[in-house]
Amino acid sequence: MPRAPLPFAFLDGDFIAAADARVSAFDRGFLFGDGVYEVIPVYGGRAFHADHHLARLAHSLEGIELDSPWDDDWWQSRINELISRNGSGDQSLYLQVTRGAEHGRDHRFPADVEPTVFMFSTATPARDAAVDRNGLKAITAEDFRWARCDLKTISLLANVLLRQQAHAAGADEVILHRGGHLTEASVSNAYIVSGGRVVTPPLSAELLPGITRIVTLELCASLGIPVAERALTVDELDAADEVWITSSTREIGPIVSIDGKPVGAGKPGPLYAKLRAAFDDLIASWRSGSAPTV
Ligand code: PDD
Repeated sequence: MPRAPLPFAFLDGDFIAAADARVSAFDRGFLFGDGVYEVIPVYGGRAFHADHHLARLAHSLEGIELDSPWDDDWWQSRINELISRNGSGDQSLYLQVTRGAEHGRDHRFPADVEPTVFMFSTATPARDAAVDRNGLKAITAEDFRWARCDLKTISLLANVLLRQQAHAAGADEVILHRGGHLTEASVSNAYIVSGGRVVTPPLSAELLPGITRIVTLELCASLGIPVAERALTVDELDAADEVWITSSTREIGPIVSIDGKPVGAGKPGPLYAKLRAAFDDLIASWRSGSAPTV
């Protein structure tokens, strides 16, 4: 079930009731999907690695040639105010910037149009303990998205269709491949574990540079788990001991079956358990304020 937004939203400079948030039907986000977004997890009222999210937002804005008048301090203060107006605690904060509303419909960039900036947050549901016991199911599919998947754009139709394909097949996620090599999943990054080593595709225009990916690779390093960032084939996925996905909403998730076949022993594996525990410790220290803030 979709979660209702928390009471406050931020729209074009003002904090307003989320229920009252309205944008023009001429907004280019609506007409063209002309915009970018971020999803930032919040633990104990503190935006998790907001610095990384703001750096990726800047990369996305630059990628779509949208000049941004706001610096990181501007974002950080609005993000923090929205979090506190919405009661702090654990939230998932959504942030979107579009090229704005013009009267008409012209593919070319309009002159002198203010971008639309929208943020809202939802309460984070309690983590589902059944996932650690039973894992998640995935299917595989050809990655038919565009050639700039490193940009976090709101044009998500391909991701929507792929995710729905997984849902219709009774699966939680779809792991994507392009010409036989893995890219990522429809709403997360993908990893395999083979012979005690964690392997994930290297960053490129074919996949989103996930913030949870950064955190996961740092946690692996701190635990002494070897990591390789290299191209992965579908055959390697089939033969993996463990398969994981990561995202800001899922954190880290263990895939136990792919296209109906078990991954490894068909249950969450030992390296997943290690990573999950390390992730939980990191989140706990973030909540208590002992982890470094941005
Ligand atoms: N999705 N790849 C894709 C295609 C994604 O949509 C996401 C996140 C990720 C993981 O990125 P991160 O670790 O920074 O969340 C990878 C978000 C959560 C979403 O669209 O809701």
